[in-house]
Amino acid sequence: MNAAKKTNDSYDLIVTGGTVIDPKIGVLNDATILIRDGEFVAVETDKKKVAAALKATDKSKIIDATGKLVTPGLIDLHVHLREPGREDEETVRTGAEAASAGGFTTICCMPNTTPAIDDQETVRFVLSEAVGAPCRVFVVGAVTKNRAGKELAEIGDLVKAGVVAITDDGDFVQDPDLMRRALEYAQMFDIPIMQHAEDKFLVGDGVMNESFASAKLGIKGRPAVAEEIATLRDIQLARFTGGRVHIQHVSCAGTVEAIRRAKAEGVKITAEACPHHFSLTDDEIEKKFDTNLRVNPPIRTQADVEAVIAGLVDGAIDCIATDHAPHSAEEKDVEFDQAPAGMVGLETALGLIKTRLIDTGFLSWTDAIRKLTVNPARIINQPLGDLSIGHSADLTIIAPDAEWTVDPSEFKSKSRNTPFAGWKLSSKVVKTILRGQVAYSSD
Ligand code: DOR
Repeated sequence: MNAAKKTNDSYDLIVTGGTVIDPKIGVLNDATILIRDGEFVAVETDKKKVAAALKATDKSKIIDATGKLVTPGLIDLHVHLREPGREDEETVRTGAEAASAGGFTTICCMPNTTPAIDDQETVRFVLSEAVGAPCRVFVVGAVTKNRAGKELAEIGDLVKAGVVAITDDGDFVQDPDLMRRALEYAQMFDIPIMQHAEDKFLVGDGVMNESFASAKLGIKGRPAVAEEIATLRDIQLARFTGGRVHIQHVSCAGTVEAIRRAKAEGVKITAEACPHHFSLTDDEIEKKFDTNLRVNPPIRTQADVEAVIAGLVDGAIDCIATDHAPHSAEEKDVEFDQAPAGMVGLETALGLIKTRLIDTGFLSWTDAIRKLTVNPARIINQPLGDLSIGHSADLTIIAPDAEWTVDPSEFKSKSRNTPFAGWKLSSKVVKTILRGQVAYSSD
């Protein structure tokens, strides 16, 4: 009976026997993570101490992770939750469930909702919907009122309400003077501006990458130069103001190179890449005409895919984010150029990362996990993403070699718009732990 009592030696949760990967401390085989009051108490490898802790703790609170990887809870900087406004496509709650099933313990939601998240009331509404959800939700507020690109939102008020960053995602902040002033404000609060870098004039009404493939298909293109110019402008504005720019969903070679150079010059710029941009090329559109392949910025050429991967490998790109963008089946079931852009991503991200980046030898597990934990945590300035003592006990437990086939009907997300249906992927999330509690379990 003593096992059930909470003594100094007993814990609220113990995860034992797994291979622990913490980008800050490295890889520990057969390590044991001790959790109390929702926080990490220790990562223990001393056999005697582990035995004592296991003995003092109720069996129901012990997770055997033998043969599994145990990582800090994954963080996704780029998720669309569609609430308020399009609760038929996703809600804060269903998005958080999808995130948890995908191994994420923290997500940042985008403000392109209806109404846009551009004031305190809307931020507070989203945060209130996230109370008790199986994933921590941070809100990213709008840069401009109604995301219209005309007038700055009340950035100080948004920060007071709790936003961790600002963005007009879905749209580029086209006006350079507005972007300059937004950077100056954001700098006062040490938050980044997350930029959807695609110059509006250059993309026009294009719906796929401008390339040989778009010419053959007679579909209007969005040229890579639209992203490159937008990124280069923001690099100069970040350099000029000293503010922080985070380039979202990097899709092409020129952008990767621009970011790489700017970083080497000391500009405060960070970047993310999405699984679809390192897994798909525009040739797929010709093969399938699947509207789930329509996304902004678009999937591009093999050379771009290789450049995005090279950026992930050498650190030009800091994070992997999903750009989870749920859309209803009715809205996607139309001509390619009529369909809304975006695909869901939370429940396929880890499998695509393992299959396309780790199994291929581009990234080690530690490097991949760094791009899903400590790096995004640093960008939003949160004490998350590693196993530091006293930090929130957020963990992802992964069966690294478990194979599965993507079946959208099994998604927790309310939407099913993925081009990856039927893909065979490796790596499954077994359990996701948020604040020391099991938030998702595959069994
Ligand atoms: O493809 C996209 N879909 N890109 C974006 O930037 C916005 C997103 C959405 O909200 O659907």
